[in-house]
Amino acid sequence: MKIIAGNWKINGSVAELDSMISVLNEIDTENNLIICVPFTMLNCKKSDRISIGAQDVSTHEHGAYTGEVSAKMIAESGAKYVIVGHSERRQYHNETNDIVNQKALRVLESGLMPIVCVGETLDQKNAGQTFSVIENQVTESTNGLENYILAYEPVWAIGTGLTATTQEIADVHEYIRKLTSANLLYGGSVKGANSGEIMSILNVDGVLVGGASLKPDDFLPIIKSV
Ligand code: 13P
Repeated sequence: MKIIAGNWKINGSVAELDSMISVLNEIDTENNLIICVPFTMLNCKKSDRISIGAQDVSTHEHGAYTGEVSAKMIAESGAKYVIVGHSERRQYHNETNDIVNQKALRVLESGLMPIVCVGETLDQKNAGQTFSVIENQVTESTNGLENYILAYEPVWAIGTGLTATTQEIADVHEYIRKLTSANLLYGGSVKGANSGEIMSILNVDGVLVGGASLKPDDFLPIIKSV
């Protein structure tokens, strides 16, 4: 059984989510299917076979924080998962490991499962810092977390069509496995053509998919490639 999670970012619509869920409801799979949608779509059509997740959460539980959404509110919507620390949040919203850790703790306290993202930038990779960056992100972002999923998403592979090589994924996942027993996902330009190979790598328990999770024609081949 693999975990196959889609991250819709600011894409899709309620109608597209409904039709994706209808399609996924019909397929025969043992895999754990998750779609992480914008907040406005959390309260969508329910399915026993597909779990819904959010893409971010507030560090606060309640109060005067205009525009924020708490973990408890996400739980109330029926969602089960929350992505925290995606590189786009780290990069564009200055989220530090400490902020990511606080978010993940709120998620867990609300009975939801955090999907904690880590990944090195191209500059860090070229400077030979991949393992030290990842170790730092993993240990600080997951501090005190009893249960979580960890997604390794090299920043240079997100939305670029560049995927880490099988050897690179194997090496980083082996390294992370020594730090945590959490389920480990790989993300970064995953598509039907490479997902089977990626999910057969040791210590890869599933994938986190951006662009190729938006349309059933692209997402189904990934699910079927396990
Ligand atoms: P792409 O699959 O579009 O590269 O995005 C990956 C990602 O950011 C998933 O969280």
